Amino acid sequence: MSTHLKLAVLPGDGIGPEITQQAVRVLERLAAQGHLSLTLEQAPVGGAGYRASGHPLPEATLRLAKSSDAILFGAVGDFSLDNLARELRPEQAILGLRQELELFANLRPAMIYPELAGASTLKPEVVSGLDIMIIRELTGDIYFGKPRGIRVLDNGEREGFDTMVYRESEIVRIGRVAFEAARKRGHRVCSVDKANVLETTQLWRDVMTTLGKEYPDVALSHMYVDNAAMQLLKDPKQFDVLVTGNMFGDILSDEASMLTGSIGMLPSASLDARNKGLYEPIHGSAPDIAGKNLANPLATILSAAMLLRYSCGLAQAADKIESAVRKTLASGMATPDIYREGCQRVGTVEMGDAVIAALA
Ligand code: IPM
Ligand code: MG
Repeated sequence: MSTHLKLAVLPGDGIGPEITQQAVRVLERLAAQGHLSLTLEQAPVGGAGYRASGHPLPEATLRLAKSSDAILFGAVGDFSLDNLARELRPEQAILGLRQELELFANLRPAMIYPELAGASTLKPEVVSGLDIMIIRELTGDIYFGKPRGIRVLDNGEREGFDTMVYRESEIVRIGRVAFEAARKRGHRVCSVDKANVLETTQLWRDVMTTLGKEYPDVALSHMYVDNAAMQLLKDPKQFDVLVTGNMFGDILSDEASMLTGSIGMLPSASLDARNKGLYEPIHGSAPDIAGKNLANPLATILSAAMLLRYSCGLAQAADKIESAVRKTLASGMATPDIYREGCQRVGTVEMGDAVIAALA
């Protein structure tokens, strides 16, 4: 039995096109094997969107995203456009999609493949066996709070300001995602905040504590974000599900990616209340290596697996991708970011080829 999927593919900038291409090839292979049937439609986004039609999130791209079952997203960011007004910069595309589609729940699993324990900058014994689910709130916080801006004071000095803000209902809905996720894993949630200093996160802690009473089978703990940043390096295996706000989650998930050997390995899912989602690697557009066949496509390929699992209910097909990635890593193939001695150094396309071959 195959299910028909309408997917929006938004490659974006830098390495975005080359990594999404490999993930698309993987999905097409699964379709050819009869695991699913697919219609793919591609549209420009980010700097590419700006170049194509004067806006990082062109109307047609947003329409396509809204009308699709799920979105496979590459990366956005283009230094040459950093002098544009903020609302025209490439990053606004991903922020706009998250907001327009109400993708409030960002799942960023950080797990280590045995072969990569030595690729991490941390000692293998600290990271081997690591399996953390970072759940980042994605549509609130200082990212979207108003007012914000840069104003000129009476003495002529400029002052920048942003607003950190969370409503109770926003904290509850991301909290539920975290508790539910913990129920399918290790039954532990660590909520990360800065309640010793910030009012917004005092509310965050209070709401999480109250909500936690509805999940007596899940052990809830709280941690200040500075300590969490340190604990992630000191003893990352203490964490099961880690839930936090938009900005802390942005920072901690980049940090956690390095525990796994490379930021090129971390997929993500951004979900709305009905599990419609956008799937993207957590890394950026890496313009310095774009077009050189150097980028690691695995985070995007693993994002495609999450897409099948979370938005399409195709757990078996997702398992197939994940085990193909495992086999490929075990075979000793490595893009430069995860290269270790004794490995076979390969490029973006060859890594895609290897995963596809391992799907057989
Ligand atoms: C991420 C990125 C984005 C963010 C940028 C590109 C706006 O860093 O997805 O983590 O800050 O959320
Ligand atoms: Mg980030």
